[in-house]
Amino acid sequence: MKIDLSARVAGFALRSCLMNASGPWCSRAAELQAIAASASAAIVSKSCTLRARVGNESPRYMDTDWGSINAMGLPNEGWRYYADCAGALKGYEKPFFISVSGMTREDNLYILGQLQAQIVPPSAVELNLSCPNLVGKPQTAYDEEQTRRLLDEVFSFFRLPLGVKLPPYFDPVHFDRMARLLAAYPLAFVTCINSIGNGLAINIEEETTLIRPKDGLGGLGGAIIKPTALANVREFRRRLPENIAVIGCGGVQTGRDAFEHILCGAESVQVGTQFYREREGCFERIERELAELMHTKGYTSLADFRGKLRTI
Ligand code: DHB
Repeated sequence: MKIDLSARVAGFALRSCLMNASGPWCSRAAELQAIAASASAAIVSKSCTLRARVGNESPRYMDTDWGSINAMGLPNEGWRYYADCAGALKGYEKPFFISVSGMTREDNLYILGQLQAQIVPPSAVELNLSCPNLVGKPQTAYDEEQTRRLLDEVFSFFRLPLGVKLPPYFDPVHFDRMARLLAAYPLAFVTCINSIGNGLAINIEEETTLIRPKDGLGGLGGAIIKPTALANVREFRRRLPENIAVIGCGGVQTGRDAFEHILCGAESVQVGTQFYREREGCFERIERELAELMHTKGYTSLADFRGKLRTI
């Protein structure tokens, strides 16, 4: 029985539903090439700013048995570097998504204008409304007015496919409000979720924080955030119009985790913390595990179970 893992995001036919999450191993051209050469169905860049940044002090990323904590502080090469990668990545038959996380509204608008004016523009933009690690800068998508103002301006001129990366929400009223706001725009996709912001992880022996920036506060990723990610995927899938795809992200380590995201309605699934640990071999492994699980269940395509989670 042939198992079809293909998916469709932002008008692009993807050979499988798996891709890297913005963050790990996607800051440098060689890293993006490695993703391009892997089983990842798309290439997503590190979130970029107007100018290159070195990010926060180290240690700023720690892996634990429950997941990861990071306060990287947006180290990146600046938008032009990623724009310049688009030409070289064109040879691979997979889309290149540039993640944009300008420090201000003006920076975001400027970067988007420049990206769509490139001779080889990126396939799509994932506009990051949810970086939790900038001192003194709240996550944009926790502020409805700021989000609306930004998206109004973005869609007044931007013509490439655009999705937004959302932070997790924790209350049905917030799912309602944000979904209603987002449904008013021609978004290609929403990615649920970014890290759970501002957790605190502790080294008991040393009686210290695990990471140094922000007095130890950092974005949580990995296994511990999967239930929150699944809730956000399902609740946004239920509320958004069908033409806005939901990309699931959060706690995907195995084919079973990817299956759960798809059951909640994800069109595609991103891998962050586990990609950090395992590098690009994770995509082929998770793909194989997902195909095996589908085979066991008698499913031949993702549509057989996507969004079909039942309440007991
Ligand atoms: C960083 C972390 C994020 O969760 C994000 O969305 C963007 C940037 C960072 O600290 O580099």
